[in-house]
Amino acid sequence: MKDFGFDTPVERYNTSSLKWDRFRGRDIIPLWVADMDFRSPPPVIRALGRRVEHGVFGYGAVPKGLIHLVCEMLARRYSWQIEPEHLVWLPGLVCGLNIACRSVGTASDEVVTLVPIYPPFLTAPKNSGGGLVTVPLVAERNRWIIDFDELAKSITSKTRLLLFCNPHNPVGRVYNREELDKLVSLCARNDIIICSDEIHCDLILDSDKNHIPTASTSLEAAARTITLMAPSKTFNIPGLGCSFAVISNRQLRNKFLQAMAGIVPEVNILGFTAAEAAYREGWDWLASLLEYLRGNSRLVEKEIASMDHLSMYHVESTYLAWIDARKLDKCSPGRFFEASGVGLSEGSDFGFPGYVRLNFGCCRKLLREALQRMKRATKEKK
Ligand SMILES: Cc1ncc(COP(=O)(O)O)c(C=O)c1O
Repeated sequence: MKDFGFDTPVERYNTSSLKWDRFRGRDIIPLWVADMDFRSPPPVIRALGRRVEHGVFGYGAVPKGLIHLVCEMLARRYSWQIEPEHLVWLPGLVCGLNIACRSVGTASDEVVTLVPIYPPFLTAPKNSGGGLVTVPLVAERNRWIIDFDELAKSITSKTRLLLFCNPHNPVGRVYNREELDKLVSLCARNDIIICSDEIHCDLILDSDKNHIPTASTSLEAAARTITLMAPSKTFNIPGLGCSFAVISNRQLRNKFLQAMAGIVPEVNILGFTAAEAAYREGWDWLASLLEYLRGNSRLVEKEIASMDHLSMYHVESTYLAWIDARKLDKCSPGRFFEASGVGLSEGSDFGFPGYVRLNFGCCRKLLREALQRMKRATKEKK
């Protein structure tokens, strides 16, 4: 496999990096917000260079080639046939989550979601003035699963929307067909729309697992699902803000477009340029990235298993490890590790206090150093 230099550290200070600027001037390894420390695929960097060199940066329009590439990619990778008119372009997926909450039901309705979950799932319903109901995932045979009985019990006559994350950030589950079918029938029985955030769909680490788009599972699923996707996590271009929704139900799509009108800006031209180059020519880079991430994931799993007070389940997808730190007996394990030189995401932000999330999308040497610091800290815990 071609070497794309994932082992070579890239200096990210003075690049307006959210991840690195947070701990600037302190000896803290930043393994929190979900971007990777790797350079993007070379064709993406070249395409951006050409576009910048052109020098005129007027209002953009979605490139026809990109629309074709997305439809072709969904068919090839996920056996999911969509029409170009099902696509709605967005400057970000968090924006898509918020628009979904504003376009389904009324302000007095409820949104249900499964925790732990990426924090904007918890804030988007409230931003639109609605209620939020959370249902915890449960552990079974060393992995996190949906508790369908609890989910069914949590549904009321006000529940109109399920915010769903597949693959799941932070637990890394890749939901299988049986789970998706069960989820869709539960939503169909209760007339609930599903907003399925599939931003991590290309980052499947287990070779025996495949991503299945929720909307692709049946006509029923397609009719009640807003799918959110992006090249941003896959090709490490989240700062360029290019994402899309797939909504085949015309009525639902119109409501979504209405909620966006006059508020959501167009995707910027560099985002389009990067997305098109990535979907056209980024796939060998992705194959190599996945191999590298598998190595990092094995290292994290092995090291965490050897540490006092910490445990985690196998990461099926994403570059995020969800670590149970409850036995440390700290009210803020994130702060505890920060004081020990490692910047992690705090579980309470995901609706699950006592846990931390570790982003292993970085070069292995840095990851090793961070894990050593964590090991030392857990050993010396006071
Ligand atoms: C599940 C999920 N959705 C959305 C996002 C962010 O999307 P965007 O940066 O496009 O708003 C993330 C980023 O970590 C994520 O993990």
